[in-house]
Amino acid sequence: MPTSHTDTADGQNSFIYVVAALAALNGLLFGFDTGVISGAMLYIRDAFELTAVFGYTMNPSYVEGVIVSGAMVGAIIGAALGGRLADRLGRRRLILVSAVVFFVGSLIMAIAPTVEILIVGRILDGVGIGFASVVGPLYISEISPPKIRGSLVSLNQLTITSGILIAYLVNLAFAGGGEWRWMLGLGMVPAAVLFVGMLFMPESPRWLYEQGRETDAREVLSRTRAESQVGTELSEIKETVQVESSSFRDLFQPWVRPMLIVGVGLAVFQQVTGINTVIYYAPTILESTGFEDTASILATAGIGVVNVVMTIVAVLLIDRVGRRPLLLSGLSGMTLMLAALGFTFFLPGLSGIIGWVATGSLMLYVAFFAIGLGPAFWLLISEIYPMQVRGTAMGTVTVLNWAANLIVSLTFLRLVDVFGQSGTFWLYGGLCFIALVFCYQLVPETKGRSLEEIESNLRETTIGKKAGRSNTVKSDD
Ligand code: GLC
Repeated sequence: MPTSHTDTADGQNSFIYVVAALAALNGLLFGFDTGVISGAMLYIRDAFELTAVFGYTMNPSYVEGVIVSGAMVGAIIGAALGGRLADRLGRRRLILVSAVVFFVGSLIMAIAPTVEILIVGRILDGVGIGFASVVGPLYISEISPPKIRGSLVSLNQLTITSGILIAYLVNLAFAGGGEWRWMLGLGMVPAAVLFVGMLFMPESPRWLYEQGRETDAREVLSRTRAESQVGTELSEIKETVQVESSSFRDLFQPWVRPMLIVGVGLAVFQQVTGINTVIYYAPTILESTGFEDTASILATAGIGVVNVVMTIVAVLLIDRVGRRPLLLSGLSGMTLMLAALGFTFFLPGLSGIIGWVATGSLMLYVAFFAIGLGPAFWLLISEIYPMQVRGTAMGTVTVLNWAANLIVSLTFLRLVDVFGQSGTFWLYGGLCFIALVFCYQLVPETKGRSLEEIESNLRETTIGKKAGRSNTVKSDD
């Protein structure tokens, strides 16, 4: 099909930016739906009797926990199914399915007559989040030209952070009337846009080729590449992609294993270094620095802005300076800021200047996350796996990311009770330092390489190691 889009000055086809921006709505839904619940909860509390669920008498705070974490449980289920479904249905079709799931989940929450139905809607919404968190980066990565792949996939993290910020603002806007149904129901809008938009977007050329649909794959490349790049990329895909199905066991093949370890490590470290305790509990943390209610809500919005702005910086830099420099400097900064936070909370009085130092450290911590570990995790897991196992591998590490997210969110307040805020931030800081060493040692640089080059480099490295050589995937060209 001829394209109406022209080649741009940087040698790309402008249509690819439309495809990536639209697919990045997956991230917006992910961010919005995870961020919106904290504000809505304040009013859900008054709307229902939270003392019994499905006939069981329960402590209201427990019921609240179920409503909040229901989405994460759903996300674990969605991510567990998402990899397989992305391979079976295709990337584009799974995005369509996830948009429908998001839409229905938000609708159910918005009109829920009982708390049980609200919980069902929330879990369903979570399944949508789980699908989206696997297939969003996967689709963008496979459809992008190597030179700008990092920026385009990181758009998905940019929309996650924007979604979180929009959720804070929506919560502020509807707080006056306590309209929690509107807060939750608004998720239907981006879900509908994503669904309709995706109907017009092409499938991943790599998935098409794997299905034996070479002509379709070529057509997608011509629509999304400058004409001069189509032939080279197609022959690279041909050389690497094997038309064979894979199973979960294939993740443990000797040559895939090193990258499985990298993905698992990144997934877990992205969460256990504490980012979502800030995203979900910022007002609580800030109030303990002596801030009033309104000031802490405003400062929370400030944190949301810092998260978005620094992710924009990451989008602009990630293909120029590479993944490793951003990841390693981000992790170093996060470690220092967590240490500083621990010290400020350790001091006896947190009023005045110390309160501001704590807030500043919190913002810088988020900034360092946003420039490194935030986008780099989602990007790297969409790049480091061979085509044959990419869907399954991404699904698996994404499940672990959500599971770690759930554990950290559920244990944060308890940890603060036991170790105090200082002890808790130092714990996250210690884990952050371990993450730094892990990434320094094991994470490969993928900047500028095609997915096929990354894959064949991985094969060669493992075979090389077997033959007694000690080169690592990390070594750049
Ligand atoms: C990343 C994390 C997510 C977190 C977000 C914050 O996308 O995976 O858990 O909420 O960054 O910016």
